[in-house]
Amino acid sequence: MKMVILSITMFTVLMAFMAADIRTIFAQEKGDPSEKAVAVQGKSTPAQGGKTILIAFFSHSGNTRVIADMICEMTGGDTFEIKAVRPYPKEYDAVVEQAKRELESNLRPPLAEKLKNAEAYDVIFVGYPNWWGTMPMAVFTFLSENGFAGKTIVPFCTHEGSELGASVRDIEKLCPKSTVMEGLAVYGDEVKNARGAAAEWLNRLGISKR
Ligand SMILES: Cc1cc2nc3c(=O)[nH]c(=O)nc-3n(C[C@H](O)[C@H](O)[C@H](O)COP(=O)(O)O)c2cc1C
Repeated sequence: MKMVILSITMFTVLMAFMAADIRTIFAQEKGDPSEKAVAVQGKSTPAQGGKTILIAFFSHSGNTRVIADMICEMTGGDTFEIKAVRPYPKEYDAVVEQAKRELESNLRPPLAEKLKNAEAYDVIFVGYPNWWGTMPMAVFTFLSENGFAGKTIVPFCTHEGSELGASVRDIEKLCPKSTVMEGLAVYGDEVKNARGAAAEWLNRLGISKR
């Protein structure tokens, strides 16, 4: 009889433990979707995530830098300036000629500085002036060196009429494993007035202001 009572007690205790376990599992399962939602939201609103946004840019005469600074201010991302080891000539005709030669020979000019912590970022804004209908070849170097597989790339450019030109297609070719988002194109002499357009664009992308 004692054995029967002992067995029933042990069985009851065991069932109570199992029920508690099941409750915990359900609680975790219930909790999961919201945790996941927060994690996903964190990715789509990287400005709140701290170190997830990088604004990499090339600027020869300063226009693209103005937009890069705006994006930096609005998202709180880190910035990285893409510079060639051999600086481009300041004189307009000379830089136009050099840029043409580099594009025609599909050159990858070496960069003065390498991006050390590419892995730390989820979203990489890439900014450049439109040169000969696409990006300066130094930006080609930057993208091919880093690849950014699995990352989101957001292009922006300044120009004198060609807008983004062939640059987005070129980015997609250089970074086939990245997701390339809608780009922003701003006239060179309109950069100072581009704050509203930049904010709207960031909203459309789901990248909220700080
Ligand atoms: C070498 C070179 C090539 C250019 N090619 C184009 C072009 O094909 N289409 C265009 O709209 N603007 C072109 N531009 C004008 C620049 O895109 C524009 O001035 C840009 O805002 C400069 O940006 P930055 O001040 O950041 O260097 C070119 C400028 C240079 C220096």
